[in-house]
Amino acid sequence: SVTDSFIAGLPKAELHLHIEGSLEPELMFALAERNGITIPFDSVEAVRAAYDFSNLQDFLDIYYAGAEVLRTAADFRDLAVAYFDRAVADGVVHAEIFFDPQTHTDRSIPFATVITGLLDGMADAEARHGLTSKLILCFLRHLSEEAAFATLAEAEPWLDRIAGVGLDSSEVGHPPAKFQRVFAAAAEKGLKRVAHAGEEGPPEYVREALDLLAIDRLDHGNRSLEDAALTARLAREGMTLTVCPLSNVKLCNVASMDVHPIDTMLRQGLRATVNSDDPAYFGGYIAANYQAAARARGLSRDDVVTLARNSFLGSFLDDAAVAAHL
Ligand code: ADE
Ligand code: ZN
Repeated sequence: SVTDSFIAGLPKAELHLHIEGSLEPELMFALAERNGITIPFDSVEAVRAAYDFSNLQDFLDIYYAGAEVLRTAADFRDLAVAYFDRAVADGVVHAEIFFDPQTHTDRSIPFATVITGLLDGMADAEARHGLTSKLILCFLRHLSEEAAFATLAEAEPWLDRIAGVGLDSSEVGHPPAKFQRVFAAAAEKGLKRVAHAGEEGPPEYVREALDLLAIDRLDHGNRSLEDAALTARLAREGMTLTVCPLSNVKLCNVASMDVHPIDTMLRQGLRATVNSDDPAYFGGYIAANYQAAARARGLSRDDVVTLARNSFLGSFLDDAAVAAHL
């Protein structure tokens, strides 16, 4: 069996991490106090007790509420620094992190405040740990196409520091097709494209992400397994799936870790990776995700090495940097 120290010691990339989802209750309280904000909880324990979700929307409601303590560039820097410090302890050497600018600009926090803070945190992680990172700007799919275009326009001065665009938030009812034009505009600007699809939504949403958004990487993708032709296509095309085991169980998209499909994905030839999604809310960072999945599904050392190797193959690092990590 695979030991925790083997997993933690294995160099890996994290490809599916919402930086706002790494806000631990302790930092939430510290930032609330620093910014003179009251939050509707008495204690860190009360916050953690509220993290009991029946589905994605349940979680999102609490996640967006938690983000309200983030106000200044220093807040975003401290958030990122805390995540990178934690990730390094789990063997992460490269991270491609999502941020949700609309969650902040809709509260009148300037785009520049958000991104300068995050970029500061990224520079700090590289200087102190040698951890490299990239930013992926996510559009909130419950908002309009027009709002996504406005966000892309706000990002214009920062495009040389943004690797790609993504699509997150409430999936069902907001198919990828809604964002076809904004993804095409992002592609014209040279940005990579990823999208959450098949987390709660049907296989058809995964097809749309492939065919209409021309994604370079698929976030979650679990429900692709319901469609054999789609699964075969993903394998044939070498599409990377950023799978998030603890998230899947916490959001009740998978009944328990004992029936998680991570091993099925590998056996079907999918380029699956393991990631933490929103670790402050789902009970563990990336190594805990590897450990839980490996233990419950009986993954071998070779399987775990394959998952870590896939994380570099699926990253947006250039070929020389990928080769240096393999
Ligand atoms: N935003 C943060 N985490 C998310 C997830 N797992 N799915 C969709 N949107 C998200
Ligand atoms: Zn996610």
